[in-house]
Amino acid sequence: MTSDIASPIDTSLIDIVKVTKTYPPDIMALDDVSMSVGHGEMVFLTGVSGAGKTTLLKLLCFLERPTMGLIEMNKKDISKLSGHDLQKMRQHIGVAYQDFRLLPKQTVYQNIALAMEVRYETPKDIKQRVLELLANLGLADKIHTPTGKLSRGEQQRVSIARACANKPPLILADEPTGNLDPAATALVMNLLKRLNEDGTTIIIATHDQSIYQKSDHRLINLENGKLQEIIKVNFDL
Ligand SMILES: Nc1ncnc2c1ncn2[C@@H]1O[C@H](COP(=O)(O)OP(=O)(O)OP(=O)(O)O)[C@@H](O)[C@H]1O
Ligand SMILES: [Mg+2]
Repeated sequence: MTSDIASPIDTSLIDIVKVTKTYPPDIMALDDVSMSVGHGEMVFLTGVSGAGKTTLLKLLCFLERPTMGLIEMNKKDISKLSGHDLQKMRQHIGVAYQDFRLLPKQTVYQNIALAMEVRYETPKDIKQRVLELLANLGLADKIHTPTGKLSRGEQQRVSIARACANKPPLILADEPTGNLDPAATALVMNLLKRLNEDGTTIIIATHDQSIYQKSDHRLINLENGKLQEIIKVNFDL
C-alpha cells in the first residue's frame, strides 16, 4: 500500500509539540504535552480515568483540534491539512474507538466491509480479509449478526477488526481490551503484535496492565493531562 505517512524507520511519524487541549468551559484535558512516535513503534498510553488518553488519540485522528501547540505527521503540520489532503491522511489511520462507533443494524461483515469499500477494494479481497480478521479474533460465527445484537466484548473485537481492515500504517486503539476476557485479550494483542511486526505504528491507550507489563515497548503515562514517560519498566522485579 502506498502511504503519505510511510517513510524511513529512523524518523518520527508523529511529533506532538507543547500541545494543550481545553474543553469548554475550562477543562484542561491535555497540558503542555510533547512526545514523538517513531515509524513502526508500538507505544502504550496509560493513566487513570480522565487523564487525557482518549483526547490525545482524538487529536491524532482529527476528531478534535489542539487548543495550543503543534502536531505533525511525517513532518506535516496537520492543522494545515484540509479537504482532499486531510481525507487522504485520515484514510491511513485505523481507529478502534473506546465507544466502538459501529453501525448497530448492519452485520459484522457489513461494518468491516464498509471501511474497505471506501478504498475501492474488490469484493473478493474484502471477503478474504474480513474472514481472516474474524478468524483471528474468534468471531467467525458472528459474521452475519447485526453488531447491535453482540456482547460488548464482541463489539469491541469488531471495532478492532474494522480498524485493522485496510492494514493502515497507523493504528490508534483506545482501550482495545477493556471488555475482554484473557483469551480474547490474547487474540487482540496477537493481531496487533503481528501488524506491528509487519511495520504498522500502533498507539494503545489502556488501563490493562496485563497487556503491557511484560512488553519492551515504550510506556507513556498521562497524569491530569500532563505526560510522564516511563522508558522501560521491568514489572517482573
Ligand atoms: N467532549 C468533552 N467535553 C468536555 N470535557 C471533556 C470532553 N471529553 C473529555 N473531557 C474531559 O477531559 C478530560 C480527559 O478525558 P479523556 O476522555 O481524554 O480521558 P481518558 O484518559 O480517556 O479517560 P478514560 O480512561 O475514562 O477513558 C476529563 O476530565 C474529561 O471529563
Ligand atoms: Mg478514554
